[in-house]
Amino acid sequence: MVFGHRFDYSDQDFQMLLKLLSETIQLDGSIWGQLYEAFPTVMRFLPGPHNEIFRQYKELCAFVRGELEKHKEDWDPSVPRDYIDSFLAEIEHNKHDPEAGFDEVNLIMCTLDLFLAGTETTSTTLRWALLYMMKYPGIQEKVQAEIDRVIGQSRQPAMADRANMPYTDAVIHEIQRMGNIVPMNLPRIASKDTTLGGHFLPKGTPILPILTSVMFDKTVWQTPDTFNPGHFLDSDGKFVRQDAFMPFSAGKRVCPGELLAKMELFLFFVFIFQKFSFSPVQGVELNLEGQIGTTLTPVPFKICASLR
Ligand code: HEM
Repeated sequence: MVFGHRFDYSDQDFQMLLKLLSETIQLDGSIWGQLYEAFPTVMRFLPGPHNEIFRQYKELCAFVRGELEKHKEDWDPSVPRDYIDSFLAEIEHNKHDPEAGFDEVNLIMCTLDLFLAGTETTSTTLRWALLYMMKYPGIQEKVQAEIDRVIGQSRQPAMADRANMPYTDAVIHEIQRMGNIVPMNLPRIASKDTTLGGHFLPKGTPILPILTSVMFDKTVWQTPDTFNPGHFLDSDGKFVRQDAFMPFSAGKRVCPGELLAKMELFLFFVFIFQKFSFSPVQGVELNLEGQIGTTLTPVPFKICASLR
């Protein structure tokens, strides 16, 4: 959707891109990244891993710049192939209005933003899924039983199956709640003097709308700190929505990739568990604590996958 083509798994440029994305996200949220955010003037002159972020970001931009130049070579505005082509058309439409925000630098930033926000999040959630399913083998078996009953083994899952798979749907929601991969959400700043929940926030106040506070709210969830698909099921086993389920945030800046991510999570999750069962490596304790970067990710782990 972004670059107009599928990268081969062995494509070295693509592998480099994924590695850089992952490292940048980790560094950005590490103590070094946080120190830089708090004291940029001092940190700029100090050695340390935070300096890597800028080098990596330049490399990421250069990668997108390369894609952009390739797009421009055979760009046909009447047949947009992808996001980059469509953005090029907007640049053309708005060329007499520099304030419109459609220029090549912004194209590169927005492309990178989409790619960054759209890859790491879904794959991190799937890694949490593997961990939780290994931790709770009984739940893994119930998911697989539902997959076998509704889809079977001979065809691939489709989105239409979700309505008939309330248990699996509930498990995916609970993985997202417990995984809580964007715990601090994205920051905002009050654009004018505001009163919120009885608190006065002068213009310019930075605001962190912490998602953890709702995803683990003791007044909403029956067992906030324990993995429990029942949070999303009624007494008849039907799927129920919860207002406090907010992994994609809410409001005007709600994640624009929410629908896509939900489809990806359902299809990938079901397909993986249709074909494989997962268990921990013998003698290794599963770590469900996670490590905090820009997103909350599982610490690297080994798995035993057996073909079903
Ligand atoms: C499990 C998957 C995902 C989760 C949990 C997630 C979560 C979030 C959250 C919490 C935000 C911050 C919203 C806010 O500021 O209020 C966000 C922003 C964003 N997400 Fe996602 N996201 C996911 C997948 C995706 C995908 C697949 C895409 C794109 C294809 C995407 C694109 C974006 C973009 C571009 C923003 C920034 C919006 C802005 O700057 O205001 N996300 N996401």
